[in-house]
Formats: sequence, C-alpha cells, structure tokens
Amino acid sequence: MDLTALEKEVAEVPLDTPEAQAAFRKKFLRKGGVLDELFAQLRQLPPEERKAFGHRLNALRKEAENRLAALAEAHREALNQTPIWGEDATFPHLSYEVGGRHPLSLVEQRIVELFARLGYQLAEGPEIEDDWHNFGALNFEPDHPARDMQDTFFIDPQRGLLLRTHTSTVQVRVMEKTQPPIRILAPGRVYRHETVSARAHVYFHQIEGLCVAVGISAADLKATLEYFLEGFFGEDIPIRWRASYFPFTEMSAEVDIGCRLCGGAGCPVCKYTGWVEVLGCGMVDPAVLSACHIDPERYTGFAFGLGVERLAQLLYNTPDLRLFSQNDLRFLQSFRGYGDTF
Ligand code: DAH
Repeated sequence: MDLTALEKEVAEVPLDTPEAQAAFRKKFLRKGGVLDELFAQLRQLPPEERKAFGHRLNALRKEAENRLAALAEAHREALNQTPIWGEDATFPHLSYEVGGRHPLSLVEQRIVELFARLGYQLAEGPEIEDDWHNFGALNFEPDHPARDMQDTFFIDPQRGLLLRTHTSTVQVRVMEKTQPPIRILAPGRVYRHETVSARAHVYFHQIEGLCVAVGISAADLKATLEYFLEGFFGEDIPIRWRASYFPFTEMSAEVDIGCRLCGGAGCPVCKYTGWVEVLGCGMVDPAVLSACHIDPERYTGFAFGLGVERLAQLLYNTPDLRLFSQNDLRFLQSFRGYGDTF
C-alpha cells in the first residue's frame, strides 16, 4: 500500500459534499479502513523501520481527524453567522396578504346552512340551458315576454339554447330524475339582458328551493320561509307577504322585508317604500309536476327563488349591486375575517 499516496489523499482530497466526507471517514477512520491494514503491516516490519513508519501512520490518522474537525468547526461558525432574517435582522418581515371569502359566497354559505338544518340537499344544473328547462316545463306560454330576445341571452335561438334566466331550471332537472320526497336547494348564476346599474346586472345569483311530497301545503311554505328569513336577518325582521304571479306556481307570492339600509324610512334601495322584495315563491303548479313526470294527484310541493345579491345587499348595507361583481379589493377586503360564523 502506497503510504505516500495516502498521505497526499488525506491532505488534499476534496471534502465538499456529505458523501465525500462519509467516504473519507470510512476509509481513514473507521474499523476495517486502510489504517487497520497499515498497522498490520507495521508489525511485520524490521524493528529499525517500525518507529518511523508508526509515526507516519499516527500522523496520517491525526491529519484525517483534523480535516473532519476543521469542517465541523467551519460549519458551526457558518451557522452562528447566518443572520436571523436575510441580510439584516432589522429588515421588515415579509407580510402575507390573507384572502377572504367573497361576500356572495358568505351569504350563500349561510343560506345553505340554514336549509341544511331542515334536510335540504344541494342540487345544480347548467348555466347554458335549453328552452324546455328554462321555460317550457315551467309552464311559460310560447309568447311569454321572458322568451323575448330583449330579456334573455340566446346562444342559439334555432336550437333554443340560452343562458338560464333563473335557477328554476334546476327544479325541472331534479324532478325529471327523482320521484318525491324531494327537498333541494340549488344555488347558481343566472343571466338577463339588462342595463347594468346600481340595481341590476347582466348576471347575478339565485338560490332555488324545492320541496315536493305527499301533503305539502302553503302553511309549510310560509313556515319554512319565515324560519329562513328570521334565521338570516334575526327574529325581529319585518316580513310582508304579497300575492303575485309566476307561470310555474299556483298560488304565487312574493316576500318583502323591512329595508335595512334606511330602517324603513325610505331610500333608493327600497324605492322610498321601506320594503324590499327578497324572494318569489308559490305552490308548484300541477302542470309543472306533470311535465316532470310527477303525479299531481298524489304529490304537492312548494318552490322559492332567492336573490343572493339582494340578500347580501341588505345584510351588509351595500348601496350598489355592482360592488359584488367589480372585485374592487377595497370592498372585498372589508369582508376579510368574516368566516364560518358570518
Ligand atoms: N324564478 C323566479 C325569478 O327568477 C323566482 C321564483 C319565483 C322561483 C317563484 C320560484 C318560485 O321557485 O316558486 O324571478
């Protein structure tokens, strides 16, 4: 074994990786390494050579130990000198922008939670719909004004493809596939051909509700919606029922609540009436049940449609509905931290 070559290796071999250091330690300092062999050779040398050779072996071992110790020391020193933060401990810390939920999502989540307690399940349907699900099955007359291009965005008038104008489409889709009992809630985006203003937008959000079973009555409808409005706004919220008309319900009603922006005194949001409409509802028209293959002799049901922007506007006192779609961070950040508890 060439001792001179080994001495050179111990002095010079690069030890800049953990692997190189481990190999070095194994070769020069561990049991079974080259030094064991060299000490075995030592014993066979003539006595006059032994002393000098022994010196060189001890020096070799010492040198190997020193190199590793020097590395460890350098490492310790590097750790001690690493600044606490980047180059400069007085440097301002990084700040992270924490996101928050969109106010419409907060409102939607709250509504879904309230109805989930009554056993309602979520349902959804497509935003691109056909004439049947948006109008036909819901008992709209062929010449109903909503079918007009003035009110509805048609994608392909020939094939009757359009952007749904309400989430009532999901009622149809669910009833076509499911026999009662049915209790669903369907949140979603809807589209209408409107001029964008503080009060109207070309798209907005609705939540549709549908409950169909044996013996469902208007009393169930009223109790359900009052439970919801009181849960949403608080028990002292003024509620007003008005008779109305929808092609797909018979009887039909609309519900207003006392305007929360002006406290009933009158403002642009309530058009100076003190009341704001928040939902439409009614008993599902037997013709709609039939169109969806549900026996109207056996089953009755109620349905309702809530405007999410409207509820959000009243809950958060937001004068202009456009704020909900503009994504102005100053507006959105004011909801930061509103969480699961509203
Ligand atoms: N689809 C109606 C609208 O967009 C809202 C509505 C009214 C939904 C009465 C219903 C209902 O389910 O029963 O204005």
